[in-house]
Amino acid sequence: EKDKELIRGSWESLGKNKVPHGVVMFSRLFELDPELLTLFHYTTNCGSTQDCLSSPEFLEHVTKVMLVIDAAVSNLDDLPSLEDFLLNLGRKHQAVGVNTQSFAEVGESLLHMLQCSLGQAYTAPLRQAWLNLYSIVVAAMSQGWAK
Ligand code: HEM
Repeated sequence: EKDKELIRGSWESLGKNKVPHGVVMFSRLFELDPELLTLFHYTTNCGSTQDCLSSPEFLEHVTKVMLVIDAAVSNLDDLPSLEDFLLNLGRKHQAVGVNTQSFAEVGESLLHMLQCSLGQAYTAPLRQAWLNLYSIVVAAMSQGWAK
């Protein structure tokens, strides 16, 4: 319950500015693993990572990611209701060539974004609360790779 409060409280302001926060998250992700950028086919003909990050299709994906997080935060009391959706989302990511190992870096990028935007409010219990939520989302998405 304490976890839920921490998550809701921290998402309240972040969720109002989804795209810029999502861009911070994905910039970090591509720092950790530049190869992931190549999985976005529409980024093949942009010059620099920075150009790619500002392409409309890419910003759309960022928005989609943030909306999934938003859905998870809104459904903290009933996360199993998102399982089918997340399993299918996992399947789609398997199809575009994402590896489940990348979820570690995605998680790190999520925490990085939270730390950047929350500053002092980024505490150890808050970090753990988000990690717990993230691990539930990852577990559900990972079902999409199961045979
Ligand atoms: C779709 C890549 C992580 C949510 C896609 C697509 C690609 C992609 C290439 C299809 C093209 C597009 O819709 O833009 C990646 C990569 C990731 C990643 C490389 C990190 C390793 C995530 C995460 C979430 C997410 C963490 C949310 C939790 C979505 C959604 C779609 C999508 C909602 C649209 C699916 C649909 O068409 O129904 N992703 N993605 N992605 N991604 Fe990701």
